[in-house]
Amino acid sequence: MLVRLIYASRAAGEVNAELLDALLRSSRQNNPAIGVTGVLCYSAGMFVQVLEGSRSAVSSLYNVIVRDPRHEKVELIHFEEISERHFADWTMGQVNMSKVNNGVLLKYSARSEFNPFDMSGEAILLLLDDLIATAAISK
Ligand SMILES: Cc1cc2nc3c(=O)[nH]c(=O)nc-3n(C[C@H](O)[C@H](O)[C@H](O)COP(=O)(O)O)c2cc1C
Repeated sequence: MLVRLIYASRAAGEVNAELLDALLRSSRQNNPAIGVTGVLCYSAGMFVQVLEGSRSAVSSLYNVIVRDPRHEKVELIHFEEISERHFADWTMGQVNMSKVNNGVLLKYSARSEFNPFDMSGEAILLLLDDLIATAAISK
């Protein structure tokens, strides 16, 4: 049985390219072995991540991620059973927020700045769909 989990968090300190690379390296190294796919998005001090896979794999990974000192205030946005993955092709896709135009953000949120803490899980998924269509997500 598959589930999808979405959470948002705040970076604990400065987030530079090395830190993002390290997170994506861990994800791409560990997630295939446990059958987890998803997308990680970072912008303006905030992370949002979608994790898909078996309930036990997603739950244990989420428990590891929540304890990671590189971020804080982890907020669970969405958790549901799913019949199919949305991000089957993404071990852990990375959203390039510099490629995201304000119009796309405004379509799904109250303001044109990205703030996952103000968005529903459904709006986040619709936004990510748009980003996939406009190739703003890289594998
Ligand atoms: C925002 C964020 C997202 C993360 N996503 C993942 C992930 O998808 N998979 C993963 O294995 N570790 C992820 N991590 C890292 C884990 O918290 C942990 O450091 C890692 O799994 C440890 O394994 P490693 O020693 O192989 O790096 C994430 C950390 C943060 C802060």
